Amino acid sequence: MATTARALMKALPRATSSVRYASRSPAAKQFFQQARRNYSSESSRSSSNAKYYYAAGAGVVAFSAGYLFSNYNSDIVKTNSVGLPETHIKQGSGGQALGLFKPTTEDYQKVYNAIAKKLWEEDKYDDGSYGPVLLRLAWHASGTYDAATGTGGSNGATMRHAPEAGHGANAGLKHARDFLEPIKEAFPWISYSDLWTLAGVCAVQEMQGPTIPWRPGRQDRDNSQCTPDGRLPDGSKAHDHIRAIFGRMGFNDQEMVALSGAHALGRCHEDRSGFDGPWTFSPTVLTNDYYKLLMEEKWGWRKWVGPKQYQDVATKSLMMLPTDMALINDDKFREWVKVYADDSEKFFKDFSDVVCKLFELGVPFQSLPTDRLSFKTFDEQALGQ
Ligand code: HEM
Repeated sequence: MATTARALMKALPRATSSVRYASRSPAAKQFFQQARRNYSSESSRSSSNAKYYYAAGAGVVAFSAGYLFSNYNSDIVKTNSVGLPETHIKQGSGGQALGLFKPTTEDYQKVYNAIAKKLWEEDKYDDGSYGPVLLRLAWHASGTYDAATGTGGSNGATMRHAPEAGHGANAGLKHARDFLEPIKEAFPWISYSDLWTLAGVCAVQEMQGPTIPWRPGRQDRDNSQCTPDGRLPDGSKAHDHIRAIFGRMGFNDQEMVALSGAHALGRCHEDRSGFDGPWTFSPTVLTNDYYKLLMEEKWGWRKWVGPKQYQDVATKSLMMLPTDMALINDDKFREWVKVYADDSEKFFKDFSDVVCKLFELGVPFQSLPTDRLSFKTFDEQALGQ
């Protein structure tokens, strides 16, 4: 079937050929080309092409993970078994107390590596990666920000506590919080709020997205700082809702559209949001396919008993939320959807900028924007070894 969807699926390996992809090691390229698992709930309706591109490659995964990460085990084991000196714990990443130990760029890269290692090893989850749900955790921690009152945002990691943990929008994020718990144990000096945003950065980068500059300085807060329910967007709504929610955080139209490109990743789960299915054919690789599919594919209402959502007419295997469709039904949003559909590099650049901004909302940094760190992916560090 010569539909756009098929064309996009065929073009996918090229569509993901970012600068980073081009510089990947041969083992990693093999991994990215072969080790994509099929959708957990849509496989019967997926096309044969989709199966071809995202077929499971457990052996390759195991080999690649071992190859890429073997050099880093010693760091993590050493940290766990020997334990960290008390002074190490006294000065947290948020600078919450005086102490002798000040984490360096290298220390943060070690945390990044530990998350990346776990991401690659635990490939049985969902479509083969915890990456999407880690990004969603970082976004939901940050997206509670209210610029008018300065409340909410990524400072605090208040989603650890009731009532915020139980807010409907946060359903399913326990998977991500639990995933990160052993990392917090291995690196007790990092605050949860720094850890969650760093994990979001790591998820984007390890899923072949752009480098996201990041800096520490978030301090954990107790449940008195939990934000009221209703600050995160509701997928069943339209363009005015998107502008109200993201405008409250301080984003403009272009930034709202750039942020939405995150829906190239992951999927909806009936037992979490009630919605169901992935947005793209490559839910564990960041591409600009979300925009391409919005622009080029035909979308109709899915006939089912669940909440109103769209499905692609051609394969009936992809979905869009009403808020996703609002991006092409609103003229101003649509202009940006087209820009990002036509220019993957522009999307990566703008996505990096806007995610960096998102993760810094509401943080009382002592540091300057010029102090931001850029982490190397596992691939980049394995090159030449
Ligand atoms: C209008 C704005 C948005 C709405 C209404 C929305 C809504 C949703 C919904 C309903 C889900 C499915 C949750 C589930 O059932 O597991 C989801 C998943 C996801 N969202 Fe959004 N979202 C929005 C913006 C964003 C932004 C700004 C980001 C990140 C920058 C993001 C990243 C993700 C990711 C990565 C997933 C997949 C999670 C997974 O696979 O477990 N979303 N979103």
